[in-house]
Amino acid sequence: MPGAETETLFTGISQLASPGAGQQRGAAMRQLTVTQNAAMLVRKGTVVWVGQKADAPPCEHVCDLGGAAVTPALVDPHTHAVWAGDRLADFEARVAGQTYESILAAGGGIRSTMRATAGASIPELVDLARPRLAALLRSGAATMEVKSGYGLDFPSELRTLLAVQLLGEETRATLLPTLLLHVPPASGRADYVRAVCQELIPQVAAEELASAVDVFCEREAFSVEETRTIFRAARKHGLPFKLHADQFHAIGGTELACELGALSVDHLEASGEAQIKALGASSTVATVLPGVTLHLGLSAAPARRLIEAGACVAVGTDLNPGSSPLSSAQLALALSVRLNALTPAEALTACTVNAAAALGLSDRGALLPGQRADFLALSSADWRDLAYTLGSNPVQTVYVAGQPIRQ
Ligand code: NIG
Ligand code: FE
Repeated sequence: MPGAETETLFTGISQLASPGAGQQRGAAMRQLTVTQNAAMLVRKGTVVWVGQKADAPPCEHVCDLGGAAVTPALVDPHTHAVWAGDRLADFEARVAGQTYESILAAGGGIRSTMRATAGASIPELVDLARPRLAALLRSGAATMEVKSGYGLDFPSELRTLLAVQLLGEETRATLLPTLLLHVPPASGRADYVRAVCQELIPQVAAEELASAVDVFCEREAFSVEETRTIFRAARKHGLPFKLHADQFHAIGGTELACELGALSVDHLEASGEAQIKALGASSTVATVLPGVTLHLGLSAAPARRLIEAGACVAVGTDLNPGSSPLSSAQLALALSVRLNALTPAEALTACTVNAAAALGLSDRGALLPGQRADFLALSSADWRDLAYTLGSNPVQTVYVAGQPIRQ
């Protein structure tokens, strides 16, 4: 068992599977390196050597993983893990035939979660989100993005971001907070967008409360022009930006995000040729969310065609109460193989280095020298069990910076 040693040699690795470091696009997403009978040397939380056990450098501290398959830890690039209330009545109504959009248009859906969340204190929000993030971590995600977006007003948005900050201080996983502009108020939206750009974004940037700004660009949410205005404000204040787009209608958000150099465009269920072409020609990550396809019964985002067009595809859980109550990054990976037609190798790449790229990170997601030693020891000798397993957890232990997380 590694303790506080500065250097540990991990052995007893039946297979070590890793994509290349950094963003992987198109056909490169399939190119994993799989080393049999592997070993990995970790120094001060960073991978310094990977290869076959027979070639391993000498090391005083050895940790035998007992024949486990090892992969990089997963990165969940898209969650809305902080919310209060529930959407069980919505769920029943949808199953009975109402649509997600009609519930939202009638003031329910996201707006009902906003009302519940706005009434919660920071400690209540922390207590509600803690077990959700713990479940994601158990499922293999050592890095997670967490959005605001259920605040009815600016103070409740800021409370959500402060709750994420407190949750980040409690865990060894990395939490990255995102300011999400989710839906505009029913009236006075021009004033609202102006205040977002002139008050909320400057404050969030100055107080370092978020690492990025996100917008829900959709008929029932923000328009393309409102999104452009918000992105410009984010850029002016030094914050990267990303987008929820093409969930129900392709209204131009994806093209805008690619034009302005967004980190990622997420959802893409309704994307067509123009959006696929834009993402294929850009370094903006195309993040697909199979939990939404499953829970809302939407058509799946065209991940296969995106990869064929040369895009960098990532996968996230989109953990949220309305469209994806999915708190397993491993299950998101496994579902992307079934619903988005990714190969297991592409799905591993999508959930590691490409998901990290969607968060602007290039220091993690691959088990190669120089990368963070965030990795998974599986309860299987074959890494493909990570993509195969549905409903039980194939992750035995999550290691963050070379140290096991005991849960
Ligand atoms: O990513 N579509 C917009 N936002 C979330 C859903 C939020 C909710 O329904 O509460 C999503 O799907
Ligand atoms: Fe989302």
